[in-house]
Amino acid sequence: MSVQDRIRLLPDGVVNQIAAGEVVTRPASVLKELLENAVDAGGTFVEAQVSEAFPFTLRVSDDGSGMTAEEVRKALQRHTTSKIAAAEDLQRLATFGFRGEALPSIAAVSRMRIVSRPEGEETGAEVLARAGEILSVREAGAPRGTTVEVSDLFGNVPARRKFLKSPRTEMAHLWEVFHAIAIPCEGVSFRMTDGRTDSSCERGESRLDRALRHAGQDAKYLVPLEQTSAFFRVTGWAGLPHLSRFGSSGLHFFVNGRDFRDRGVFAAVREAYRGILAPDRQPVLYLFLTCDPAEVDVNVHPSKTEVRFRYGKDLFELVRHAIGEALGEIAPKAASLPVAVEVGRRDMPGIPKLSEVMPLLPEAFPGEREPHPSIPGFESQGFLERGGFASLKPVGQILGTYIVCEGAGEMVIVDQHAADERIVFSRLKDFYLGKGASVQRWLVPQVVSLQGGGKRERSTIEQFLDQAGFLYETFGEDTFKITGGPAILGHFDLQGWWKDLCDFLLSQEAAPKGIFDVDRELWRIACHASLRGGTLLEKEGMRALLQELDRAVASHSCPHGRPVWVTLSSAEMGRMFHRS
Ligand SMILES: Nc1ncnc2c1ncn2[C@@H]1O[C@H](COP(=O)(O)OP(=O)(O)OP(=O)(O)O)[C@@H](O)[C@H]1O
Ligand SMILES: [Mg+2]
Repeated sequence: MSVQDRIRLLPDGVVNQIAAGEVVTRPASVLKELLENAVDAGGTFVEAQVSEAFPFTLRVSDDGSGMTAEEVRKALQRHTTSKIAAAEDLQRLATFGFRGEALPSIAAVSRMRIVSRPEGEETGAEVLARAGEILSVREAGAPRGTTVEVSDLFGNVPARRKFLKSPRTEMAHLWEVFHAIAIPCEGVSFRMTDGRTDSSCERGESRLDRALRHAGQDAKYLVPLEQTSAFFRVTGWAGLPHLSRFGSSGLHFFVNGRDFRDRGVFAAVREAYRGILAPDRQPVLYLFLTCDPAEVDVNVHPSKTEVRFRYGKDLFELVRHAIGEALGEIAPKAASLPVAVEVGRRDMPGIPKLSEVMPLLPEAFPGEREPHPSIPGFESQGFLERGGFASLKPVGQILGTYIVCEGAGEMVIVDQHAADERIVFSRLKDFYLGKGASVQRWLVPQVVSLQGGGKRERSTIEQFLDQAGFLYETFGEDTFKITGGPAILGHFDLQGWWKDLCDFLLSQEAAPKGIFDVDRELWRIACHASLRGGTLLEKEGMRALLQELDRAVASHSCPHGRPVWVTLSSAEMGRMFHRS
């Protein structure tokens, strides 16, 4: 057999099916492409309908630019697009689409019906296609804009259908896609119905409001974040540790209105929540990044979900700081919040009513004024924004562990043990960072030794003891006589901490060197030093604890990632007692 016979050009139908394999993996990928096209078409209203029969019929309508019959024919061929003309355009993409792949890829594995009418045309066109072949083109009455209906997905490639998950899971993915596109896309109204549920976003609703409504009941544990760097601006909501999840389903990242995943941003989030969330938990976050389109490359993944940032390091620092500041310094930030202005909005059941404020915007983005939903009326972090823990009135202690407090319009319950751990951790951390504190010599020095793999970490541990404020002498290779420590520790169970540390080092013996982690040890010390859980507190003690919490960094969770406080608003209590 000659080379010419062996190696051949594939027929178009096969090429399209291969391309579809990358672009169309499940109903949600179809919906994503159709919604993106609808937004790119420049309309102001986009509607998606999902019918029940699995694997669903999807219909997406818009009131955008529309297409003539000839344009629809063209759009169904591969590599046809109106969005870019030359390679340079890839550097500054302002549209979701650019490959000219989506429609032909979807059409290759489904039945498709497109009805469209551009502005200025009297009649519209209806085009039917199946398995990539155009079946008919005819004139049809149609409103301005486009409706694309996709049914019988993977009907001609049954093998692909087998890979689909249950209707429930696929439906959940459809909703995820809908929200991922609708939330950041201000200025466009969206609606989606699946026969049972429907959801919509109003045109005038800001992305921050959309995100809050999406969070639903969780919104009360979200705090605003905002920060600018040389190349990026980030706004959004950071979840308090009350909202942690095992997977990444609570993470919503958008850049210039496009939903994305990026390892660098994940890492920044992990770093920001270190010491706040347990290591195996992920937060709830809505991050809206804005930057010059030239700084981000979206052409790195077939379904355009991954992106590459030119200044990844800058972004890492920005995200880490923005979250850190939102979580750690809520009270001082709130004091400088601008005055709130009420704006009209539709009431949504179970969703807080918001007001909006116009924050002063950084110079770097003069054209962009993003309304910032504020706190009044929003039945959430009331007390945090109104003066912090110190503004709460302690009512009493219950079950020997919880302090019940009253703030304006809400009840706040503080876990005193968790609070104490957080306070001690925070003070230790300050000391470690050189912010000064007193050291106390102990009446009875204590002797501890390193064993096994722990010996490898000896110099790091010595350095840690020094910097954390411990006084000690060394004996031989691996024995320390500890004679004092930070005064905040009071009755510190040093042996308990040391045992935890040694057990950890032993369990990590096979791990590479350098596993010692300062924050983790400071938490462990805090756990072995906190006294107040189960201790009876008088009002004065409660007030002191609340004041100290205000000073503690990230005062929302104890070092194990357990929440320090929870809140129940008067509106929530009203609902519980069926008051209207
Ligand atoms: N809803 C719509 N309204 C108006 N024009 C549309 C619509 N959907 C598609 N088109 C036109 O069809 C073309 C092809 O769409 P398709 O989704 O296949 O490619 P694309 O959006 O250009 O790029 P990508 O493959 O990255 O999505 C688009 O460039 C656009 O001109
Ligand atoms: Mg497209």
